[in-house]
Amino acid sequence: MSSNMEPSPAARVRRLSNSVHDAAIVRAAAELGLADAVGEEPTPVAEIAKQVGAEPKTLARLMRALVAYDIFEQVTPDSYRHSDMSRTMRSDAPGGLIHTLLTPADWGWVIWSKLADAVRAGKTLFPDNFGTDFFGYLKEHPEAQARMFRGMTSWSDAMNPKLVQALPLEDARTVADMGGGEGTLLRAILEQGPHLSGVWFDTEATLAVVDDELLSGPVGDRCAFVTGDYFNEVPFAADLYVFKLTLHMYEDDDAERILRNVAASARPGARIIIADPLLQDPPQSKFVPSMDLHMLLVMGGKERTEQDYADLFERSGLKFDGITPTGTDLHLAVARVPG
Ligand SMILES: C[S@@+](CC[C@H](N)C(=O)[O-])C[C@H]1O[C@@H](n2cnc3c(N)ncnc32)[C@H](O)[C@@H]1O
Repeated sequence: MSSNMEPSPAARVRRLSNSVHDAAIVRAAAELGLADAVGEEPTPVAEIAKQVGAEPKTLARLMRALVAYDIFEQVTPDSYRHSDMSRTMRSDAPGGLIHTLLTPADWGWVIWSKLADAVRAGKTLFPDNFGTDFFGYLKEHPEAQARMFRGMTSWSDAMNPKLVQALPLEDARTVADMGGGEGTLLRAILEQGPHLSGVWFDTEATLAVVDDELLSGPVGDRCAFVTGDYFNEVPFAADLYVFKLTLHMYEDDDAERILRNVAASARPGARIIIADPLLQDPPQSKFVPSMDLHMLLVMGGKERTEQDYADLFERSGLKFDGITPTGTDLHLAVARVPG
């Protein structure tokens, strides 16, 4: 395309402002479960509508819109079949993408609509909108909580093999997964060898969602399940503490408090690893700065630059060893307990 064919700057901004439509169209397909209702052979809209409980004429409009995004193929205006993209949205598709698509639930849409207000206020407005903080909300809405953990796990499962390769496991014996969630990262770590033992640490409420394979599978007898609050105390010692997609939920004062509690329990020389997206200036992707704003909106947290990590570890009394890329959406920020 020659340069005079490229969209004008104004057209590009206008297109971006409409991208909320894109996200809503994909979300509606996920919420309705359309990918499970469409077959490999042409499926009539009336039949899809019956299966998902939708009004047929309106569903036909949504199906046409999805085809414009290469999600489903239109055989006739009244019948559709799968495309490569729509197949990934099936509930039995490898990778469990559907769970990631369903993660944000209604709260995600509400908080993103308040971005300008949050930037004015310089803080999360989650409690102003929902009367409680994020984890309080999840406790009150078990369906949203289940979606959140399932979505986190399907994202994690795609990254775990590379994360495990990047972690410095050679000289570790006990690895603690801090805010371990469903625990599939810890399971993947423990599968690296029988010399490794694990500690899954999370809140009492989260114990209910732990992966069965970690609880009672072959590595289960090498894993301790400790519940608590890392703002109060970290009641065990490990050689390696991993915070995956957890420390970015907090601004620096809270993150420092957690890291100091880890350091108070840890053996000298123990390593602390934060696995979160790495902010760069100027930004290298849309994903990281938008995730940074997502953390602001959800919890008042943030993503960090390499310098931010150096500062955070220094103020927490830890020695910063540097950043390790992982070939996933996450980088490892590595620190050591002095001594
Ligand atoms: C965003 S999830 C990340 C879960 C998991 N690390 C992953 O990557 O899938 C954050 C985790 O921190 C846990 N958490 C939140 N507050 C906590 C606290 N005060 N003490 C311990 N764990 C906490 C949550 O229950 C949740 O499992």
